[in-house]
Amino acid sequence: MGEALLGLKRSAMCGELRESNIGSNFTVMGWVQRKRNLGGLIFVDLRDRTGILQVVFGEEINKEAFEKADNVRSEYCIAVTGEIVLRESPNPNMPTGMIELKGHNIKILSESETPPIYIKENLDAAENIRLKYRYLDLRRPDMQKIFITRSKTAKVVRDYLSDNGFLEVDTPTLTKSTPEGARDYLVPSRNYPGMFYALPQSPQIFKQLLMVSGFDKYFQIAKCYRDEDLRANRQPEFTQVDIEMSFVEVDDVIAVNEGLIKKVFKEILDVDVETPIKRMPYKEAMEKYGSDKPDLRFGMEIVDISNEVKNADFKVFKDAIEIKGSIRAIKVENCANMGRKDLDRLGEFVKTYKAKGLAWIAVKEEEIKSPIAKFLTEEELKNIIEKVDAKQGDLILIVADSNKVVLQSLGALRLELAKKLELLKDNTEFNFVWITEFPLLSYNEEENRYQAEHHPFTMPMDEDIEFLDTDPGKVRAKAYDIVLNGEELGGGSIRIHDSKLQEKMFNVLGFTKEKAWERFGFLLEAFKFGPPPHGGLAFGFDRLIMFLAGTDNIKDVIAFPKNQNAYDPMSEAPNVVDDVQLKELGIAKISHQE
Ligand code: AMO
Ligand code: AMP
Repeated sequence: MGEALLGLKRSAMCGELRESNIGSNFTVMGWVQRKRNLGGLIFVDLRDRTGILQVVFGEEINKEAFEKADNVRSEYCIAVTGEIVLRESPNPNMPTGMIELKGHNIKILSESETPPIYIKENLDAAENIRLKYRYLDLRRPDMQKIFITRSKTAKVVRDYLSDNGFLEVDTPTLTKSTPEGARDYLVPSRNYPGMFYALPQSPQIFKQLLMVSGFDKYFQIAKCYRDEDLRANRQPEFTQVDIEMSFVEVDDVIAVNEGLIKKVFKEILDVDVETPIKRMPYKEAMEKYGSDKPDLRFGMEIVDISNEVKNADFKVFKDAIEIKGSIRAIKVENCANMGRKDLDRLGEFVKTYKAKGLAWIAVKEEEIKSPIAKFLTEEELKNIIEKVDAKQGDLILIVADSNKVVLQSLGALRLELAKKLELLKDNTEFNFVWITEFPLLSYNEEENRYQAEHHPFTMPMDEDIEFLDTDPGKVRAKAYDIVLNGEELGGGSIRIHDSKLQEKMFNVLGFTKEKAWERFGFLLEAFKFGPPPHGGLAFGFDRLIMFLAGTDNIKDVIAFPKNQNAYDPMSEAPNVVDDVQLKELGIAKISHQE
């Protein structure tokens, strides 16, 4: 049984004691990292959130405490009172390494079974075990560091936005479906059997309503829920720093958010982010990097060589031109000697992006080697090399197909090569870019209609509004994403505040007036009452913390995350509920059969 505190108060944190405290008495409380019994002396490494302190018990110091200390084991929770003294054998690698606590008294506050995972940094344990015993996983110093960073960052965000006139307002999480495009999590209603709330995919509509209310500048660190396929940077339940402002254009929203980014990176990492952050139109990003979230830490840009090879007697190229596709290349510096096996592997890699093959040209010192040389004239070869600006020793990789396939596969290949060639080893570089001028709409081939790329309230660019009727696919949006090192950190847009334009937009999206009102009626109703021009943005807060903490796994920055199957091995959610509960909700189970 554990002992009670009985009025004993902690007077110091383990990791904060130093040589200046020598000669004073302190009470510390924490967990036993390790105990060593060296005969007459027992050493205990005591750990709390701030670090580790060595405690020494001796028969000579206090016999009773010494005997009690001999009973402690790893992860026992104890309190120790004693005097800080200079250590006989100092450990300069520890912040408290010059001193130790001479233990006069010890209380065993609670015992611990042998923990199923080691409480140490850089733990290499199966993820499901870590998640099942998450509270122990979170005892590990490297995890605690992440949550200290997360907490500090939330404070910096709140301070910055408050100082800039933003009001923090909560919005409901039991709501109606919001139009973010993923599957909703639904919550059945007892009062209205057969009806459901949806958990918000974002506070989008509510923040726009707050603009109608005249709140002018809003922010919220908001929980969002999306039932989508999970990846290393996606969780079903995640957090946004959600922002909305009135009477603004794109530049205003960008300026406020650049200020926020600058402040966060300075305060948390002491990194100076240069502003203004560069901007790149969507089209350029797609053409050069095959991605709307380009990683600009390295070059290897995609180059269109269609013109150079348009007359080549090579069926693959001819076919591409015939279907109005293209032939494009990337140049990989100093890789002309890449082996056949590696080249074949890259060929297989692009096939996963639907490319039918990968052609290559190795510009070697003595010769130019290429399996497609036989289809090209010398002139054509020379022109390709010139166009991609290849030097001796470089390798050129080529895909011919529809533009979509070419850009997707070369974009992915570019990232794959960067990984393979270890071009991204330096994780202290933070390369930001705003991607702007996104297409407003994309064509859904299955449903035979246009759909909103962002959401249906996104404002078209002024100069493109005229194409809404004639060529909707051409219309660009006042939408922007902030991209960091190839990851989408946040995104937003200026919103439509004119009901006529909104109506037209719904029209283009194939919504009947009734359907639009059924789904978004409360917003459309609100827009009858003098909505201000407004716009905003949301950062993925978890993704931001991933960068600040230097991890590429989103689960590391969420205290109690779900696993890859949206399951929590610790609480075992989701789980069955009582039939009584279901009956109350008017829900009957149907058995799932293949
Ligand atoms: P969007 O859908 O782009 O915009 O989301 C904004 C940011 O949220 C993060 N994010 C996620 N993070 C973790 N797990 C997920 N499943 C997940 N989904 C998104 C990304 C993303 O950039 N209402 C709009 C914003 C606006 O227009 O103001 C919105 O939600 O970092
Ligand atoms: P082949 O004559 O079939 O041996 O093809 C010559 C080269 O063209 C091989 O290296 C193939 O990988 C490559 N290739 C095939 N299809 C494509 C394509 N769509 N784009 C680029 N290269 C291709």
